[in-house]
Amino acid sequence: MKIDLSGPLYDALKKASVEYSSLIEKNDLPGARKKAAEIAKFYHELANMNLSNKREYLERAEKWERVSSGKTRSRQKPSLTSHNETEKEEENKISRKAASLITTSNVKWSDIGGLDSVKKLMMETVVIAGLQKPESIKPWKGILLFGPPGTGKTLLAAASAGSLHATFFDVKLESVLSKYFGESSKLISSLYNSARDHSPSIVFIDEFDALSQSRDGETNEATRKVLSSLLTELDGLSDKKSAQLLLTLAATNTPWDLDTAVLSRFPRRIYVPLPDQNACKEIIKIQTKGMDISEVSLDRISEKCVEMLYSGRDLSNFCQQAIWTMIRKVNPDLYKMAELPFEELKSRSLQTTPLVDDDFREAFLKIRSPMTKIMLERYEQWNNQCGEV
Ligand SMILES: Nc1ncnc2c1ncn2[C@@H]1O[C@H](COP(=O)(O)OP(=O)(O)O)[C@@H](O)[C@H]1O
Ligand SMILES: [Mg+2]
Repeated sequence: MKIDLSGPLYDALKKASVEYSSLIEKNDLPGARKKAAEIAKFYHELANMNLSNKREYLERAEKWERVSSGKTRSRQKPSLTSHNETEKEEENKISRKAASLITTSNVKWSDIGGLDSVKKLMMETVVIAGLQKPESIKPWKGILLFGPPGTGKTLLAAASAGSLHATFFDVKLESVLSKYFGESSKLISSLYNSARDHSPSIVFIDEFDALSQSRDGETNEATRKVLSSLLTELDGLSDKKSAQLLLTLAATNTPWDLDTAVLSRFPRRIYVPLPDQNACKEIIKIQTKGMDISEVSLDRISEKCVEMLYSGRDLSNFCQQAIWTMIRKVNPDLYKMAELPFEELKSRSLQTTPLVDDDFREAFLKIRSPMTKIMLERYEQWNNQCGEV
């Protein structure tokens, strides 16, 4: 397993660099050279552990070696500025990465079918965070959304951001941990700095369970560091301007894997369940927008969708399937048009007819929910024990 030691190493490097400049100031050139050798060693170590920046670190190591051997004539403050510059570069790189997590959200509350009470809870939280209020009323800083996959957790986060016109940071934890390995905890602080700068902000952390301990109880060093940076941010220790709106939403499909330190920072835990019959109806309407469904027995179909344990995502696939069945039925020669030039295609339009029950019947055979009743019971149970009352 990879272990991230770059954090302490960076700290040591920073310290050595400060010491180096004070030695130069004192005109202690032999001392400064020794320090330069130390700095070169740190860069070598960083190069060894960090594959993505290996070349850059090696170059820096060589630069410092030249200083230490006196090959770079260091009369006053040789390459001190260059060191500061490289460090600044490093920081810029991380803040650019943090900024790259900003996305825009056009999702509206009305794009989400069902989940009325969940939507209400979320709206409330968002509104409270934004309103002027007495000091004793503390807005929620974090909300945990949990439930089966595909039930709309991401949609809810995106709608919150969309309705507030907030800056939306979309963080897939698993990929941050693996891609920015070694820098991921720095990335988290940089992300929150950026979120404060761009307030109102919503930081959405998806796949939140990636932070939990693995089965053997071992937590990867990088994960642990990300966790502690995150907890610091959530505790607001580094929250300099607390009047700003900065809401952290976290989503997980396996809430029982989260450890108590994490859970305690998310007192508001909202269950996002599979859709009931009414919700299924609403979602089918949303997912067939622009189609005529007036001939469809929505009640009966929705009832069956509930029996099939369909999630919102399953319903979306289910509707697509039905739409395709209809399209093939009315356009049996569709594939032949592949021969036509694109300009010609653009001038023609696809034939559609109203959807009918038969189109959906076939879709039922093709779309299967990954959920089982036993799995759902586990969510219910966790919700009863730990969820929002
Ligand atoms: N309540 C819902 N209303 C409308 N569409 C939904 C709903 N839930 C899920 N979907 C559809 O399923 C897709 C996946 O939903 P998502 O929010 O990513 O689920 P989760 O984050 O809970 O895994 C959405 O993009 C949307 O098309
Ligand atoms: Mg999601």
